[in-house]
Amino acid sequence: MADESQKWVLLATARTPTNIAVIKYWGKRDEKLILPVNDSISVTLDPDHLCTTTTVAVSPTFRQDRMWLNGKEISLSGGRFQSCLREIRSRGGDVEDKEKGIKISKEDWGKLHVHIASYNNFPTAAGLASSAAGLACFVFSLAKLMNVNEDQSKLSAIARQGSGSACRSLYGGFVKWIMGKDENGSDSVAVQLADEKHWDDLVIIVAVVSSRQKETSSTSGMRESVETSLLLQHRAKEVVPKRILQMEEAIRNRDFGSFAQLTCADSNQIINLAEKWNRAEGTPQVAYTFDAGPNAVLIARNRKVAGLLLQRLLYYFPPNSDADLNSYIVGDKSILQDAGLGGSKDVEALPPPPEIKDNIPSQKYRGDVSYFICTRPGKGPVYISDESQALLNPETGLPK
Ligand code: ADE
Repeated sequence: MADESQKWVLLATARTPTNIAVIKYWGKRDEKLILPVNDSISVTLDPDHLCTTTTVAVSPTFRQDRMWLNGKEISLSGGRFQSCLREIRSRGGDVEDKEKGIKISKEDWGKLHVHIASYNNFPTAAGLASSAAGLACFVFSLAKLMNVNEDQSKLSAIARQGSGSACRSLYGGFVKWIMGKDENGSDSVAVQLADEKHWDDLVIIVAVVSSRQKETSSTSGMRESVETSLLLQHRAKEVVPKRILQMEEAIRNRDFGSFAQLTCADSNQIINLAEKWNRAEGTPQVAYTFDAGPNAVLIARNRKVAGLLLQRLLYYFPPNSDADLNSYIVGDKSILQDAGLGGSKDVEALPPPPEIKDNIPSQKYRGDVSYFICTRPGKGPVYISDESQALLNPETGLPK
């Protein structure tokens, strides 16, 4: 086939979620293959609120591999994209579309070029795990286009070579990335612990504090940490293995007390609001965690608690006076009703939370949060067969 007189373009489109680690991987034992020093566990976030959509296309008329991210052409020459492309291409199968007169045999994938258009529905590089959703979608959509006959866990090992945490975005719900032992990384894969329906009353609120680029990328941050910190080696060998087992049990039993305690203990920062409130209530109401970016992720045990949490967040972090509540709270806005802030209710009139016992007025951080995303545990990747939703033009293979 690879006959250049043929003008056909074949497309595949997929949508993939982000994830937030509650037991984190912090350090790699192999930089190139992206092999971690410990297992990690994450919650997949609802793709209705945070996701990557990617369309991949192949045509005998394409002269080179090209990619557009959020409408701008980017280079595909980086080792991480190249590793994923190479791994998927080598596993491509035969494809036939009689209607379009397309016949590709598996040997052709090495000669054919691809076009890739990807769109994140949230700020890229704001510390919201965009590369996790992005690389998972890259691999998942290419695997569909090239008719790769591998199970999800094999695909997760390929996505891992693009971005470590991408392997966890191949599944919905609650996911474990097993660090593996093999030097070639073949057993460093993600597995699903439970699907998103298993524990569906959790509410997750992401406080997006800055859309600026991260100052230290997680890769270089991790490299420095592994090189410098004996503490991290102790963490990987002694602390995390126990936490992983405890977290698996907490998820299995929907035990929010243990889930919150383990999530907070595993995060490297302290959030006053959550600590104060959890202490005042006597039992954990909310878990908090941070990734390499500056954004805080808060997990409430249910919707009622999420409403009370949102009241507190809005009390301490009110929007700038020109911002309206509708753009300050995005995602599942119905949590505003649970917070008693539906309709025309005023954030400025919120009383201080009762756990502030002293009469010293507490400090407010107006404008420090750009916006809050309200979401929940969500499902894994899906293919989108409706061609009208593709990001590439089916005639030209160029961005729409
Ligand atoms: N990095 C951040 N977002 C991405 C995406 N959508 N695809 C590939 N890499 C990314």
